[in-house]
Amino acid sequence: MKKKILLPVLSLSTLIATAVACTSLNGSTVDPERDLTYCDEQVHRTLEQLTENKGGHIDYTMQPRNIAADSTCWHCRKTCPEEWCSGFWPGVLWYDYEYTGDTTIREQAVRFTESLKTIVDAPVFDHDLGFLIFCSYGNAYRLTHNPEYKKVIINAADSLATLFNPAVGTLLTWPRNIEMFGGHNTIMDTMINLEMLFWAAKNGGNPYLHDIAVEHAETTMKNHFRPDYTSYHVAVYNPESGDFIRGCTHQGYSDSSMWARGQAWAIYGYTVVYRETKDPKFLDFVQKVADAYLTRLPEDMIPYWDFNDPRIPDAPRDASAACVVASALLELSNYVDKDTSRRYLDCSRKMLTSLCNDPYRAGKKNPSFLLHSTGHHPAGSEIDASIIYADYYYIEALTRMRHLNRNENICQVD
Ligand code: GLY
Repeated sequence: MKKKILLPVLSLSTLIATAVACTSLNGSTVDPERDLTYCDEQVHRTLEQLTENKGGHIDYTMQPRNIAADSTCWHCRKTCPEEWCSGFWPGVLWYDYEYTGDTTIREQAVRFTESLKTIVDAPVFDHDLGFLIFCSYGNAYRLTHNPEYKKVIINAADSLATLFNPAVGTLLTWPRNIEMFGGHNTIMDTMINLEMLFWAAKNGGNPYLHDIAVEHAETTMKNHFRPDYTSYHVAVYNPESGDFIRGCTHQGYSDSSMWARGQAWAIYGYTVVYRETKDPKFLDFVQKVADAYLTRLPEDMIPYWDFNDPRIPDAPRDASAACVVASALLELSNYVDKDTSRRYLDCSRKMLTSLCNDPYRAGKKNPSFLLHSTGHHPAGSEIDASIIYADYYYIEALTRMRHLNRNENICQVD
């Protein structure tokens, strides 16, 4: 059942004017070299903290996950298939190594990455295998071309593909939650995990991986969005007939609201799908999905955690969604006409400019890159916190902007 929601909508021309005018709204404008140097400093602070916590020895199976608003210390979680965020810290280290060339960081990246190997040796737990392995091993392979890393990614892609239900045409996100949702559940976040399937298919894996990624994207495009291109967090399907049962939320404000990070995953995910298929229907679609998000942003272009929380402007922000979108728009700007490209670049710059200033930059407050992300608001978890995936997409976005400035390729290479 599709419910109509009413949202304040900025015109496209207002959006362009805002984006262009606000590139230096507060403090300094984004500068990828300077801001990547800042990230490197914070990475060193984190490594020091991880070393001190363990009396001089880092436990490479414990990955930084979040820093609560009232803390200055990383809360770390044990690497395991149930902990969806274990791949982000290794990914941060790889991006930091890419920028600095610092071999001590590379050594840390290798050790944290290789602690995830056991996850691939176990049966797939859920869709997060993509986040776990592609952010860690994906970046590791991109920068080292170690053939062992390639094998890990291809094995992970094969495992992830076992979640595909051909009757539905999507990957099952949470096998453990079939009963809770009343059917085969797919969340928008799963769009991010298609990249690993595409990559594996063109790097020696089964070509079928490409086909199921495309089918997942097509089915999601058909059922997971409202007529105004805002998205549900969860789509529930009949696992036998494949019929779409309902759209609802898990981490958003309500079934009819636009959860900021869900829409961000959609923008990022469909940008990748267009890159990998070059099918114009995905390019057309992702621009509509992006505009549904961009035209509803507050002035500093960092979204509230859910665009429909009635407590806005007193609701918490989600810097992580801004990082995901800032990174995606840098890629998407390569695929669209000149004016749209300029608009996406301006928006991305504006987001990264907000993020490199108060109140978002962590600075001396704690060793993360950013403050003010929201993880799972309905569960009361990680509200207004520093969260590792915000840092991951932030350093990715800065890296992409740096490459763009140098006329280099910005995306995952074969
Ligand atoms: N994939 C879970 C989240 O975005 O919070």
